[in-house]
Amino acid sequence: MEILVTGGAGYVGAHAAKALNEAGYGVVVLDNLSQGHQEFVRWGTFYKGDVGDAALLRKIFTTHEISAVMHFAALTGRRVCDRTC
Ligand SMILES: NC(=O)c1ccc[n+]([C@@H]2O[C@H](COP(=O)([O-])OP(=O)(O)OC[C@H]3O[C@@H](n4cnc5c(N)ncnc54)[C@H](O)[C@@H]3O)[C@@H](O)[C@H]2O)c1
Repeated sequence: MEILVTGGAGYVGAHAAKALNEAGYGVVVLDNLSQGHQEFVRWGTFYKGDVGDAALLRKIFTTHEISAVMHFAALTGRRVCDRTC
């Protein structure tokens, strides 16, 4: 069973990917790295791309047997703070 983790190169997504891996699930990570870090992706298959990219999502869903999606892709406040603080 594979779980798609969007935002998996970010804080929550990377922890979720680790926990899923430890629980025996296959992990597929989709992240555009706008705020995340590729070195955080240590579990599963990584796709660099945007959650709004329909063609990429089609490729992921045809390549993998995705049973569930955990959606953590987001533009969080930290980035705003980086720009303004
Ligand atoms: N960190 C916390 O303590 C916390 C607590 C409660 C809720 N949340 C929520 O969890 C979610 C994730 O938070 P986080 O702290 O992991 O943020 P984060 O910035 O560390 O991770 C978000 C990830 O989403 C990616 N991303 C952004 N836009 C994308 C897009 N269009 N397509 C693909 N990837 C995209 C970024 O590159 C980044 O890796 C947010 O919705 C946040 O509000 C976080």
